[in-house]
Amino acid sequence: MFATWIAPNDWFGDRTTARAVAGRYLKLLVSLTGLLLMLSSVATGAGGQGFPGSQAPAVKGPWMDKSLSPDRRADLLVGQMTLEEKTSLLHGSGFRGMPGPGGAPPPPTRSLGGAGFIPGIPRLGIPDLQMADAAVGVTRGAVYGRYSTALPSATSEASSWDLQLAHEYGALIGRELRNQGFNMSLGGGINLTREPRNGRTFEYKGEDPILAGKLVGQEMKALQEQGVIGDIKHYAVNDQESGRNFVDVKIDRRALRESDLLAFEIGVKESGVGAVMCSYNLVNGDYACENSYLLGQALKKDFGFPGFVLSDWGGTHSTAKAALAGLDMEMPGNTYFADALEKAVKNGEVPASRVDDMVHRILRTEFAVGLFDRPPDRKVVDIYSGFEVAQRVAEHGTVLLKNAQGQLPLRATRLHSIAVIGSHSDVAVLSGGGSAQVDPPGGSAVPPPPPPPGAPARAFFERVVWDPSSPLKALRAKAPHAKVEYDPGQDPATAAALAKASEVAIVFVNQPTSEGRDVPSLSLPDNQDALVSAVAAANPHTIVVLETGDPVAMPWVDKVSAVLEAWYPGIRGADAIANILFGDVNPSAKLPMTFPRTEADLPHPKLTQQPPPAFATDMVSPFPGSSFRMNTRRFEVAYDEGLKVGYKWYDAEGKQPLFAFGYGLSYTSYAYSDLKVEGGQAPTVSFRVKNTGAREGAEIAEVYVSLPAGAGEPPKRLVAWEKVHLAPGEAKPVSVSLDRHYLSTFNAEKDSWELVSGEYKIWVGGSSRSLPLSKTLTLGD
Ligand code: BGC
Repeated sequence: MFATWIAPNDWFGDRTTARAVAGRYLKLLVSLTGLLLMLSSVATGAGGQGFPGSQAPAVKGPWMDKSLSPDRRADLLVGQMTLEEKTSLLHGSGFRGMPGPGGAPPPPTRSLGGAGFIPGIPRLGIPDLQMADAAVGVTRGAVYGRYSTALPSATSEASSWDLQLAHEYGALIGRELRNQGFNMSLGGGINLTREPRNGRTFEYKGEDPILAGKLVGQEMKALQEQGVIGDIKHYAVNDQESGRNFVDVKIDRRALRESDLLAFEIGVKESGVGAVMCSYNLVNGDYACENSYLLGQALKKDFGFPGFVLSDWGGTHSTAKAALAGLDMEMPGNTYFADALEKAVKNGEVPASRVDDMVHRILRTEFAVGLFDRPPDRKVVDIYSGFEVAQRVAEHGTVLLKNAQGQLPLRATRLHSIAVIGSHSDVAVLSGGGSAQVDPPGGSAVPPPPPPPGAPARAFFERVVWDPSSPLKALRAKAPHAKVEYDPGQDPATAAALAKASEVAIVFVNQPTSEGRDVPSLSLPDNQDALVSAVAAANPHTIVVLETGDPVAMPWVDKVSAVLEAWYPGIRGADAIANILFGDVNPSAKLPMTFPRTEADLPHPKLTQQPPPAFATDMVSPFPGSSFRMNTRRFEVAYDEGLKVGYKWYDAEGKQPLFAFGYGLSYTSYAYSDLKVEGGQAPTVSFRVKNTGAREGAEIAEVYVSLPAGAGEPPKRLVAWEKVHLAPGEAKPVSVSLDRHYLSTFNAEKDSWELVSGEYKIWVGGSSRSLPLSKTLTLGD
């Protein structure tokens, strides 16, 4: 969220106060008027609390001619503008719109209080740009009393492998942004899971560039169809949070293009997204936001991206270097792209034509997405359709990892007692923290523990917010005749005693993660491994439900009978989990990232941390006059595993994961047969999938390719998949055509893609480690 780039505790103190004030206000509303009244009043009240927002006045001009192309309209408009007007569109204006210290009213502004705001130019009819973080729903509800749907984490969406669902996810966010008056999203994260301890994994879409790229492509396409500018971020290789402003990522060009950048390339090309946010870190010696290879060469030239690049919040570090490298907008401040840019144009350091290009990119995007012709229509968010989408995503995104002896689904009529244990599962499900945090109505369902006496207020990135969705209630509703009892799980002995007295024990375990910090290890925090072990020792029918942002180690996995990965399941998470546990929904999700057995198996067994400051000069204040000091020491992370990200690493190194990429169980079973492959310009793979079990289900059929020997590639890569819905006993033919780009390699010397001639082996099956069908195909000359 705004200002979070430097994590100064003094700034977050203010935010915490503002949020606390807003949270209290919301709670009062809830108790006075009930949920529905609250929802409608806060939604309409968004415009009535001193944040009116604005729509540009109707202005006549040739650029308002809708029959012209966005580029032509932008050119006509740029031709009308002074240099000052042009640069006014190229930067934010700091943190205006935020409540002042102690919750004091903010200074007057047309900002709606989203993370970013750029005033428009009324004389030309250029609208204000109102930006909100929206990775898993529209954020910052608690500050301004707006309701928005807390969706399941992006990882849950990715676990569905469902492009239609990704479209719905994006459409919902777009609709809710639009209804709240925002015309630009800052969501759309697709940094690959290179570092599985990354605190932002929950905002991203797993470890595979093609899966992540295609999903974000649909999501952004749908979002922009709502008349809201989309954004894909954080470009690029911002794969860990630790020292994110100072880490210099070393990675070779081929690996860069075939892994992290490929996800962006696909996302950008498939969505026509209007904006790309460059990241905080350095890549091969240059900050991402002034890296000419990343911005000018790869993104703008090679991917043909016509939109604009905005910096992550505080990620701009220069004027001429950044502008010439390809950065178009400094956010959220005005240090480099306001007066300094005008000066650089006047003294010839930055050509005026480059400034025109920057403005053109922004305006052509606004025309293309409809900001001029179809401004946001502010109205009450449709919470019911939000609930419905949130629940569906959670049902399609919750992965069944283990189900020994058909423990699941539970049969309500046969059960007399259930123990529900841990993770505040009596009232809530966990959500992810940081700028993507969607505030639930009334604030966190679990109040934060008060800081110890004398300790500073909890820092922004340490907030843990629980969505009000009660697994206990949802489970009781499924088994009305059973005794369903709750134990908080704080004491493994009392939890085990309840488990022993019950037929089935369901243990909810959690791993809070947030922007701004990585998790110290893959182990569950707070002694939860001991909790699971104690419960499993007391009851052989122990089911573990994980609410995690990252993959976690499971030292107890052999002792429990079932494991469900629910990620952060959103505002209807409890209902989705209960539907899966009781079989009203047949799980179909598959892991979008590998779950390693142990950290020793990771390419980087230890997280690379920023070294402590060596001299007083490494401690610098980011704010004029502030007493806060931060460690500014640069350090390197060498991604020498290169293109072996996730499953490609485990395959290449011959390591057995705990749960493989692409893996996930169902309550039915599937068989694969009749593989045929055809070469040519558009190689085609066809096969049959049969539901061999007794219930209806959906199988994600996965297609991998091993490149010709000598191509220097990991053993295989995912190139296509198809979700097949099948009735019991039904078989369906599946045919997918393979995109040649996904079969190609990047030649770093020639700086271009090429298809290596030779024998390609095609693999088909239900997970990266279960591929019963294979055939070879010769491609090239
Ligand atoms: C985050 C971005 C976010 C921005 C605005 C930054 O700290 O890295 O993802 O969009 O803040 O809130």
